[in-house]
Amino acid sequence: MSKLADIIDGKQIAQAVRQESKLLLAELKSNRGIIPGLTVVLVGDDPASAVYVRNKEKACQEAGISVTTHVLPSTVAETTLLNLLDQLNNDSSCHGILVQLPLPRHLDADKVIELINPMKDVDGLHPLNIGLLAKGTPRFVSATPAGIQQLLGRSGIDPAGKRVVILGRSNIVGKPLALLLMQKDKMANATVTVCHSATPSLESFTSQADILIAALGSANAVTGDMIKPGSVVIDVGINRVEDSTRPKGYRLVGDVDFESAQHIAKAITPVPGGVGPMTIAMLISNTYHAAILSVG
Ligand SMILES: NC(=O)c1ccc[n+]([C@@H]2O[C@H](COP(=O)([O-])OP(=O)(O)OC[C@H]3O[C@@H](n4cnc5c(N)ncnc54)[C@H](OP(=O)(O)O)[C@@H]3O)[C@@H](O)[C@H]2O)c1
Repeated sequence: MSKLADIIDGKQIAQAVRQESKLLLAELKSNRGIIPGLTVVLVGDDPASAVYVRNKEKACQEAGISVTTHVLPSTVAETTLLNLLDQLNNDSSCHGILVQLPLPRHLDADKVIELINPMKDVDGLHPLNIGLLAKGTPRFVSATPAGIQQLLGRSGIDPAGKRVVILGRSNIVGKPLALLLMQKDKMANATVTVCHSATPSLESFTSQADILIAALGSANAVTGDMIKPGSVVIDVGINRVEDSTRPKGYRLVGDVDFESAQHIAKAITPVPGGVGPMTIAMLISNTYHAAILSVG
């Protein structure tokens, strides 16, 4: 029987990152009297978004961040949301602002993100922060890509010189991740290829990847036969699939078919318990940096 892939334990690595941040936050409080403040804005009643926000609140508070959450109705007028952001931009006790995405359709997410003070943009989505990352001088890196880089680094997997293939080109995951891993820097320096829905013959790319990162949003789309033997597979996807044996009637699966992939890959992240916990850990770290930046 073939050896199964090593599991990259995102839960454990995220716990270590959170512990480090907790110490830094305690130091910041005792040495400089600063308690970083994070404000989360949740619009509407999407159950998945509500769970994500609750998890972020809990983890940030546990680390020593003061969290305030504004919950706005799904019908909120754009001006109301923009006025709230304007107020937060000018509130010195608020160091980081996170608007939970996706927003209801009538709201223009780009416009909303562009209104966030880029020095408080702990999600790293403001065009100025994306531009700094593209230029090679990152300030805030979007939490999921930053978390993936940490997952690799802390598992002893250096992307330098490796062929990395990213499936998905979203502004939240695929694009910033490609920018991050192609940097001329430590834990980067990879040769990056980004695939998307217009990529013909996905397997011809995935089968060449030393590190394959799937962020498609399509349950079990990447199967073992598409993967290069001995590669590292990072599964970003979080998809609900029906499962009548579970109390909630569904379970979470990734974009990678774990069952077949674990026989081919050298190392793989599980879903849940892989990339997800890292995203929260990096939000804590970004909020700490926002507080540091605010005092120079
Ligand atoms: N673990 C975490 O913390 C975390 C954080 C964020 C997202 N996620 C999960 O990661 C997944 C991706 O999220 P996202 O926000 O990046 O999704 P998204 O905005 O829907 O983007 C999906 C990307 O995948 C591409 N794609 C879709 N189907 C494809 C196919 N069959 N072949 C090739 N490319 C395909 C799309 O191509 P086009 O651009 O051509 O449409 C798009 O670029 C989702 O499951 C999401 O829930 C997890």
